[in-house]
Amino acid sequence: MRALRVVVALIVMAFAAPIMAAQKVELSIDASKPGAKIDRNLFGQFAEHLGHGIYDGIWVGSDSTIPNTRGIRNDVVAALKAIHVPNVRWPGGCFADGYHWRDGIGPQRVVRLNPDWGGVIEPSTFGTHEFMDFIDQIGSEAYVSVNLGSGSPQEAADWLEYMTAAQATTLEKERATNGHPAPYKVALLGLGNESWDCGGNMTPDYYLDRMKSFSHFVRNYNPAQMEKDQMLKIAVGPGGSEQRWTDWTETVMKAYQQHTWSWDINGLSLHSYTVGDWVNKSSSVDFGETEYAKVLELTLEMDGLISKHSAIMDKYDPQKKVALVVDEWGGWYAPLPGSNPGFLVQQNSMRDAVLAALNLNIFARHADRVRGANIAQMINVLQAVILTDHEKMVLTPTYYVYKMYVPFQDSTFVPVTFDAGSYKHGDFTLPRVDAMAAKSKDGKLWVEITNVDPHQAAEVELNLTGINAKSASGETLTAPKVDSVNTFEIPNTVVPKPISARTQGGKLILQLEPKSVTVVSVEQ
Ligand code: AHR
Repeated sequence: MRALRVVVALIVMAFAAPIMAAQKVELSIDASKPGAKIDRNLFGQFAEHLGHGIYDGIWVGSDSTIPNTRGIRNDVVAALKAIHVPNVRWPGGCFADGYHWRDGIGPQRVVRLNPDWGGVIEPSTFGTHEFMDFIDQIGSEAYVSVNLGSGSPQEAADWLEYMTAAQATTLEKERATNGHPAPYKVALLGLGNESWDCGGNMTPDYYLDRMKSFSHFVRNYNPAQMEKDQMLKIAVGPGGSEQRWTDWTETVMKAYQQHTWSWDINGLSLHSYTVGDWVNKSSSVDFGETEYAKVLELTLEMDGLISKHSAIMDKYDPQKKVALVVDEWGGWYAPLPGSNPGFLVQQNSMRDAVLAALNLNIFARHADRVRGANIAQMINVLQAVILTDHEKMVLTPTYYVYKMYVPFQDSTFVPVTFDAGSYKHGDFTLPRVDAMAAKSKDGKLWVEITNVDPHQAAEVELNLTGINAKSASGETLTAPKVDSVNTFEIPNTVVPKPISARTQGGKLILQLEPKSVTVVSVEQ
């Protein structure tokens, strides 16, 4: 019997050995050559009136049995506080270009339909005050998208005056009567959303004319935002790489180059989802390695897309005054069976954690131009960081990536060189590893390494210049399978665990598991 066990063990080891053989990777990091600031706004979130993104996800109402503060769920607030959300884009998305802010203030809310997303009732219970309360509770900032599609510059101007005026205007008094005497801060202002599609199907020239008018008339009156913390205006930008999108960027940026005092923009948005086939979308659950490799290969196209539009922006704005703001991105899969297709409900797997890390690293490498990004969407919609079901809440693998990346907020990029090698599966060839490094505000060096390969571990040797490194430790996120998910019933399948580098001959060596995302800090 004992002999049989030994034989079985040897057979198991023989098969396990190739899977565990670690690929050696040398990472050279020169901490003495700091690059651009990695703006904390790269880690923004997006919350649209779509499915259960707002209602149930954030808002349950003050008479709910779910613990809440003024109607906003406490579990969600605590989870979001922990990832230091820099800004939340609201109320859409497509919804924003049909939204009339007066529907959502005061004691009598206007009940409408939500034609973009399932045709369901929109009670307008969650309006301006509730959004600002939520922003305040999670310690974030407001990125408000105004209705440039079906609204007027005057309507948007009134909304901004309502939110931000400090002097006793009629709108300021109305805000005070509705419970908030102090002006609200609006950090970012979206001048429409996808105006080339659901935002009104406009030509670039038509959009430009409307956008100039909104840019001029929609003013922020908050005295605290006059000198510093000025509101940043984000124009609608492209949604892909084809000529219609490069034409769009050309049109807006060319006009920007010649802009006069009467209008201005601080950012141009870029929307890009990782979706192969819009008609036959891939599943967010129960997929295999082919779907893993395919989706990750697709997501890496973000780099070329950013480079393409950055090059156009460089022509008209070489000083990089206008930020590229990727304010909608993420994996977009088929709706979960049984869910309302208009609610864009999907699960979130280990694949999404890798996808998130790869994109955040791309943004960081373009940090001189890309100074904002908002993953779509924060709760219960698309690549969500949180899923809720009535009183239940679960944190997704993507949530943990955001948590591990907190030290990179407002850090300074540090160049990393490495030979990524390649991970091949079928027709797909991807870089085996990805890495990014930065110095946080307190001067500490942080390193992120993603091991894309789902089979092979990576043995990473850190070669550090400009820093006398003694140790490195942090957290690593991996899972049994590429499609492992966290569920309400089993919420801890994909959660980070501690990791430390071992020292060998004065070098720091990290042993990374297959399909993993790792963030460590280096101690001197
Ligand atoms: O995030 C879902 C939708 O995708 C947004 O409403 C729209 O802007 C985009 O097309």
